[in-house]
Amino acid sequence: MRKILYRKSVLMSIQWFPGHMNKAKKEIKDLVSNIDIVVELLDARAPFSSCNPLLQNIIKYKKKIRLLNKADLADNEITKRWIEFFQKDANAIALTGNKDDLKQKKQLIQLCQSLSPNRNSFEKPLRVMITGIPNVGKSTLINKLIGKKSAKTGDVPAVTRSNQCLVLTDSFLVYDTPGMMWQKIKYDKIGYNLAICNSIGRNACDDEILAVYLLGYLKTYYCDLLLERYKLNVDVSNLVEGELLHLIGKKRGCILSGGLIDIQKTSEIIIQDFRAGRIGRVSLETPELWEAWMEESRLAEELLAEQSEDDEASR
Ligand code: G4P
Repeated sequence: MRKILYRKSVLMSIQWFPGHMNKAKKEIKDLVSNIDIVVELLDARAPFSSCNPLLQNIIKYKKKIRLLNKADLADNEITKRWIEFFQKDANAIALTGNKDDLKQKKQLIQLCQSLSPNRNSFEKPLRVMITGIPNVGKSTLINKLIGKKSAKTGDVPAVTRSNQCLVLTDSFLVYDTPGMMWQKIKYDKIGYNLAICNSIGRNACDDEILAVYLLGYLKTYYCDLLLERYKLNVDVSNLVEGELLHLIGKKRGCILSGGLIDIQKTSEIIIQDFRAGRIGRVSLETPELWEAWMEESRLAEELLAEQSEDDEASR
């Protein structure tokens, strides 16, 4: 069993930048010069991973509000730490977002108006652009702001595909933009976190690999929630993630003919449970973890560079 599991447990990097995103990039670039405020939605469960550097590059020094959305699904304490982290950026304000928060619409409109007080008339309307990676909740937020079904929402990455100007009032315009992904995902963990949060197209990743990664993370940082959700009454600390996946499959009755565990179905259940918040409120990253992961990655790159220098020299 371990041999098969080991093969699937080898994590691989995820890249997803479908063709239409080049068009989206150009559309956002063209639009940005006529915009007063950018509202960038981040996924509160993975704020660093969802903070797309391609967007940062296009937006540059525009006044920005970072909305850590889906905060209802994230770990409250960790979200507070992320807000503090993002508040260090002098050019942006950070706050939490949640589709069910009734006060959010008013709060966001007032904040935008206070950031650009000179643009509040028919002649000079306030122009607000909503951006973010696919599936982070842009359309849901816009529908809430405008008060009707203006933008198509759906739990499929990259549903909104072209720029749209929507009129909140004569003096307040909202621009919807297509979801934009990292052009090249630099760190593997970003790919996993984005895929687990459902911001990456299904075909770009393997459910089993995602489930294995997620289980490893939950086992380390949210073991109690994991045990509770799947009613596991064993010591999981000594189990490798693949074994845990089997155990959960067995518990959930995901059995194929011949008694084998249906790994695909089990993986889907775990990922869907996470996305729907059924495991509990979980954050996939903290500012401190990211610092450590980047340091690890820097050391690994240095080691690789040293090795290739040695290889060159020995040729
Ligand atoms: P996008 O435009 O950025 O691609 O995202 P969209 O608004 O389509 O939202 C994607 C999914 O995320 C939708 O779920 C939406 O309801 C959900 N969502 C948006 N904001 C929040 C939030 O603050 N909290 C939570 N928990 N979910 C949020 P869906 O599967 O289409 O479900 P449904 O809610 O429409 O049934």
